[in-house]
Amino acid sequence: EDGGPDPEKHCGHGRGGMGESVRRKEDKRFITGRGNYVDDIKKPKMLHCEIVRSPHAHARINSIDTERAMQVDGVVAVLTAEDLAAHDLATMPTLMDDTQDVLVNDKVKFQSQEVAAVIAEDRYIAKDGAEKVAVDYEVLDPVVTAKDALEADAPLIRDELEDQEDNHIFDWDVGDKEATDAIFEESEVTVKEQMEYQRLHPAPIETCGCVADWDPGKEKITVHLTSQAPHAHRTLFSMVSGIPEHKVRIVSPDIGGGFGNKVPIYPGYVVAAAASVVLERPVKWMEERSENIQTTGFARDYDMTGELAATKDGKIRAVRTDVLANHGAYNAVAQPSKFPAGFFNIFTGSYDIEAAYGSLTAAFTNTAPGGVAYRCSFRVTEAVYLIERMVKVLAHELDMDPAEIRRKNFIQPEQFPYESPTGWNYDSGDYEKALDLAMEMADYDHYREEQQRRIEEDADKLIGIGISSFTEVVGAGPGKTCDIAGIEMFDSADIRVNPTGNAVLRVGVQTQGQGHETTFAQIVAEELGMDVENISVEHGDTDTDPYGLGTYGSRSTPVAGAATAVAARKVRDKAKSIAANELEAAEEDIEWDRESGHFHVAGAPDRSITITEIAAGAYMNHPAGEEPGLEAVDYYDPPEMTYPFGSYIVVVEVDRETGAVDFEKFVAVDDCGNRINPMVIEGQIHGGLAQGIGTAMMEHVTYDENGNCTGGDFMNYLLPTSMEIPNFETGYTVTPSPHHPIGAKGVGESPTVGSPPAIVNAVVDAMAHAGTTHVEMPMTPDRVWAALAEVGLER
Ligand code: CDP
Repeated sequence: EDGGPDPEKHCGHGRGGMGESVRRKEDKRFITGRGNYVDDIKKPKMLHCEIVRSPHAHARINSIDTERAMQVDGVVAVLTAEDLAAHDLATMPTLMDDTQDVLVNDKVKFQSQEVAAVIAEDRYIAKDGAEKVAVDYEVLDPVVTAKDALEADAPLIRDELEDQEDNHIFDWDVGDKEATDAIFEESEVTVKEQMEYQRLHPAPIETCGCVADWDPGKEKITVHLTSQAPHAHRTLFSMVSGIPEHKVRIVSPDIGGGFGNKVPIYPGYVVAAAASVVLERPVKWMEERSENIQTTGFARDYDMTGELAATKDGKIRAVRTDVLANHGAYNAVAQPSKFPAGFFNIFTGSYDIEAAYGSLTAAFTNTAPGGVAYRCSFRVTEAVYLIERMVKVLAHELDMDPAEIRRKNFIQPEQFPYESPTGWNYDSGDYEKALDLAMEMADYDHYREEQQRRIEEDADKLIGIGISSFTEVVGAGPGKTCDIAGIEMFDSADIRVNPTGNAVLRVGVQTQGQGHETTFAQIVAEELGMDVENISVEHGDTDTDPYGLGTYGSRSTPVAGAATAVAARKVRDKAKSIAANELEAAEEDIEWDRESGHFHVAGAPDRSITITEIAAGAYMNHPAGEEPGLEAVDYYDPPEMTYPFGSYIVVVEVDRETGAVDFEKFVAVDDCGNRINPMVIEGQIHGGLAQGIGTAMMEHVTYDENGNCTGGDFMNYLLPTSMEIPNFETGYTVTPSPHHPIGAKGVGESPTVGSPPAIVNAVVDAMAHAGTTHVEMPMTPDRVWAALAEVGLER
């Protein structure tokens, strides 16, 4: 009723509300070693599970001999698909309606696939037992790339599926093909580039695992799970196991990073749960690093062609794209089922373009299944990469400054809400403002001069400047269009104010390190006039928390953050009637003052009462005819998604002798609408930029032609360390979301989504004067050196 919070003006009111850099409440337990992760959980009589995995990518299983494993002292059981079939658990549904073997039934479809499980008294014994399981494989020809998989003579991977005659999964398209083609026909300038978004792995510090504990007395299973979506997992667990949902409790304790990797259900979870039910003892399963990288949800793996049609003076008129997607051995992509290509739909980016057309073909291959939203809203990362790379390609073709070409094409502030040519409704934006700030912070003109000077002097080290002015789409729902395994993507909050004036907030989302225990408490502090220290946030326990769809795709703030604000306002409404009772005034005369956080009688500010006093009244002197207590629940179905954006500018120095790339300057300007906690946002940006650097420079899950995963451990899947990370300079603009109760948009994934094209654009820019238009990621020194050599710039 007072127009909502304005963190730029109020800045938390000193109570830790919106806009204050409140220190993270959760950090005390993390930095003093008191975190409680799944692998910290130890239960009496707990058994351990080790999975036997296939060394081959494609092989028929003739037989499995478990006898020698059973003879190992301490091995309690060895499970195969046959044992699971007896309990109807041999297969499980993927998030995309495909059916995946829990343990291989007949044919192995990717290297390290789950073949058998050994359950033993401790992990070492389980591992010894696993080594003694003898599997007789008949090795088949594998197919590893999507392109090869679609060749007419490619081996058929999914021969168990009726009507599946090849490795093709689906075709998808969006936009107006005819209108787009027509513009391409008549346009003055067209450009085309092929680019690969390589297979990545989210690689959270904590791998996936669970402790499943069947209680035969209560006939109830409790599963401590590395889960980004505990409620959705409860529903899926119940559906897979046949155990009624009220007899399934999922607890997601402290989580050491998720990044999309902890959204799917994995065979290890199902095996541990089945073993616990059969053996009537708790069973722990915890992956090793290589198991995590080689078998759980990968990300990206898109082979993309981009095309732009434009006028000679740089107005982009149409965009066209075609994608070949490698989905691995099962269609287990994690994204709303109504969007076969996820939110790749917004490949028109931040630009006002007349027409657009996108198409995609997905294929099965003998590689691990996945396609998770790695710190991204379901393929928006690939879309942003495509359009931001293509703008640079066009700038090169037209010999225009890439900043100028962006300015010429930005959707203008007055055009919002803006409907894109692919049918997406952008809520708000001011793209030029963010770019202007980033250019100023990056000292853009200076580096352009320096770049020219080095070229003229034929220097050993070249300067490249890369820009990315990305737009994101985060906060899935609305429920009518977005779902996970059929469940609508709303979210929830439950606030209970205690008689002594403090409160517990329970939310349906689950933090994996983003600081929800602090920032969600700040929303309540803002909306109820309480001190942030008096609010505790609980999440991750399906027995006590309201149903929610989980944390991924930066949806927590847009959806559960909105639910929290609305629930707090419901509490405020009830608080008014109690205030009226306490102040002996009419309810309609009670006003709430956001600045002081007090309720007072209209026109008499000294007749006021705090939420703490109201809480006491709610339990000790509640108004006649009203229910006692002070609490509220909200299930929030967002009307739309939110569209955060930003401009990143990266200046690199490229060594012509070694191909090494050094970051000279790294500027990130973000706009996530109203900001809850600037310090948390800064942390989110730093982490995401580090992942963007990993993506652009070193990370790649590689396979050889036999389907052996050659990039499946940290010796070969390289993550950036502090040595590779430069100092980031961050800035921000604030363009509130008009439909979000507190004007906030999500922010967590922006840096991972927005930074890779800025980095690639910078490296390409360093060689553009010699004709380079593209360098593939990851831009390892050998690749950069080869690109230099291709245009005669090597030393
Ligand atoms: O869903 P996830 O928590 O990964 O992403 P998010 O909603 O973008 O939030 C990441 C962290 O940044 C959370 O602690 C948010 O509350 C915080 N944040 C903020 O302080 N202000 C915003 N406008 C957006 C997020």
